[in-house]
Amino acid sequence: MNKPLEGRTALVTGSSRGVGRLVAGGLAGLGCKTVYCHGRSEAGCALVAREIEAAGARAVIVTAELSVPEEVDRLAQRLLASGGVDILYNNAAVMHPWRERVSEITMEDWTWSFQVNVFAPARLTAALLAPMLERNWGRIVNLTSGIDKTPQLACYGASKHALDKWNDDLSAALAGTNVITSLLDPGWLRTDLGGPAADNEPETVLPGALVPALLPDGSESGRFFRAQELRDFRI
Ligand SMILES: NC(=O)c1ccc[n+]([C@@H]2O[C@H](COP(=O)([O-])OP(=O)(O)OC[C@H]3O[C@@H](n4cnc5c(N)ncnc54)[C@H](OP(=O)(O)O)[C@@H]3O)[C@@H](O)[C@H]2O)c1
Repeated sequence: MNKPLEGRTALVTGSSRGVGRLVAGGLAGLGCKTVYCHGRSEAGCALVAREIEAAGARAVIVTAELSVPEEVDRLAQRLLASGGVDILYNNAAVMHPWRERVSEITMEDWTWSFQVNVFAPARLTAALLAPMLERNWGRIVNLTSGIDKTPQLACYGASKHALDKWNDDLSAALAGTNVITSLLDPGWLRTDLGGPAADNEPETVLPGALVPALLPDGSESGRFFRAQELRDFRI
């Protein structure tokens, strides 16, 4: 099989289940030598670590509660101590409970959504950029959402729009380098976050979710990909 990511290292946040699990296995199959599997507990990552190894990469489990800034920093330091990563896949996210009326939205809905979905990926990215820029190779993928006109999940939706804006500004900061940041919308999937009524099986996120990690050198930064439109992509 084609191994376009041979020798690369990758961190996939939130890879204990859902989209992240599939992406972690996919990156391993594409030749990554090390895939850091992240979740909130070692036990929760054990199965995926075995899948990563079965796909041919070394799996390293890392844990961090991403709503706690000190844990985000500790995760970044842990990775920097091993030389950083080539691929940073910012996948982990939370969705607050459905709020029938906007008056029911709590302050915690806002802070939790932004801590995990915006501050954590932005802080991780800022910390892990230096070795990527030194090597002049990096792929950063930020998981966004097509959620629209859903006030019941307003903090989740707003956090994804904030992430989009961060990705856009980051792309300008990375202009002229071979560190390429992208947004990926996985589509509505029957994961724990997406729920049982979603349109698509989680597996349909592949191969499209891998495309931003496979962009050729010199590609434009800041692009937006829809995994469901890339279902026929051939690697
Ligand atoms: N599913 C959809 O329909 C859909 C649609 C649009 C966008 N997305 C986006 O796609 C990405 C993946 O979603 P998914 O459906 O795969 O979600 P999921 O099945 O709920 O998985 C979430 C992952 O994030 C981790 N995580 C959750 N809360 C965390 C926290 N506070 N700190 C650290 N890690 C945490 C979980 O780890 P633990 O196992 O330790 O909890 C798990 O690995 C998200 O960015 C989501 O917004 C999903």
